[in-house]
Amino acid sequence: MITYLIQDPQGASKEEAPPWADSPAPEIDAYGQLPKLASTFDHVDGLFYFTYAVCIFFFVIITGVLLYSAVAHRRKTWDQKPISNFTHNTPLEVIWTIIPLIIVMVMFAWGFKGALDMTTVPQAAKQNTYKASAKQWAWTFTYPDGTESYSEVWFEVNKPVHVITESQDVLHAFYLPSMRVKRDVVPGRFQSVWFEPTMKGDFHLFCAEYCGKSHSRMYSKVHVVDSATFASQPWNQVPEDDAPIEDRIAYGKQLWKGAGCYACHNITGIENTGPSWKAGPEGSPEMGLFTKNADGEIVGTQREVSENGEVTTITVDEDYIKESIAYPAKKIVWRGRYKVGGMPAANLSDDKLSCLIDFMKSLADN
Ligand code: CUA
Repeated sequence: MITYLIQDPQGASKEEAPPWADSPAPEIDAYGQLPKLASTFDHVDGLFYFTYAVCIFFFVIITGVLLYSAVAHRRKTWDQKPISNFTHNTPLEVIWTIIPLIIVMVMFAWGFKGALDMTTVPQAAKQNTYKASAKQWAWTFTYPDGTESYSEVWFEVNKPVHVITESQDVLHAFYLPSMRVKRDVVPGRFQSVWFEPTMKGDFHLFCAEYCGKSHSRMYSKVHVVDSATFASQPWNQVPEDDAPIEDRIAYGKQLWKGAGCYACHNITGIENTGPSWKAGPEGSPEMGLFTKNADGEIVGTQREVSENGEVTTITVDEDYIKESIAYPAKKIVWRGRYKVGGMPAANLSDDKLSCLIDFMKSLADN
């Protein structure tokens, strides 16, 4: 449906490119494979290549024998009688049952050992425990010291890390393909995974379980950094009130992506699940959050909201935004209907909120 494509935020604008769009891709070797990036590589890649080799070996043998037999033993004249009427060969059948069974058992034992090693968390990793909390459609990471980051996470290189995952709503999956780490995130349950990143760089974290409309946008950037960079807590640097406005706006924009706002709120004026933060083109129902008045001052727009079932007109201001983030169900904006429960509450500190609001204001048009 064309309307869906127009509303789809995926191609809406360059502004909404994935957060890692400007990072260099990790280098790959001549076989298209990544260098060893984490402790989990040996378990996964070893078994993968073994399985791959077994498949190629048997493909060549079986196809070869089939082709050879079809050609060499073909019927050469129309009235040729069958040479034999074999239906069984017990020794042969035993052999082609036992050999694959042994091979499959090797794969099983190998995979089982790998799975055990990857889920049995060593003491060193337990002392470096993160929490990865998934919700539609963003990740929140809690560090061992209790600080948090959104949709971007920092790990220290060569230090085993233990990640406990939890879901706030539906099934998700914690998938870090470059580190060969994957774990389902099951509601009502804590799942554990550990690994040791062995190379610095920026990597992708995906959600690998279909979790709703914006599943494909539920990605994060993983930074593996040295201990000095890690100690400076790059995720915890909120610009001060008196910082240059561009820095505050840039940080607010990061939060828009990072805290998951972007999954529903466009900054392009295009309709999405939630109201666009920027006004849409003439005639669009999207009025944006802020606008410029005749004197060029940034003022809140007017919007109709439903509060306890009563529709009122309010003017957007900082209090309204803060209230809406903390209590999304309080004042509901019309989205085809007044839909309560569409937005998850976010717990953002005041300094972060104020950068986010500066970013919202920077989207004001006249
Ligand atoms: Cu979360 Cu898919």
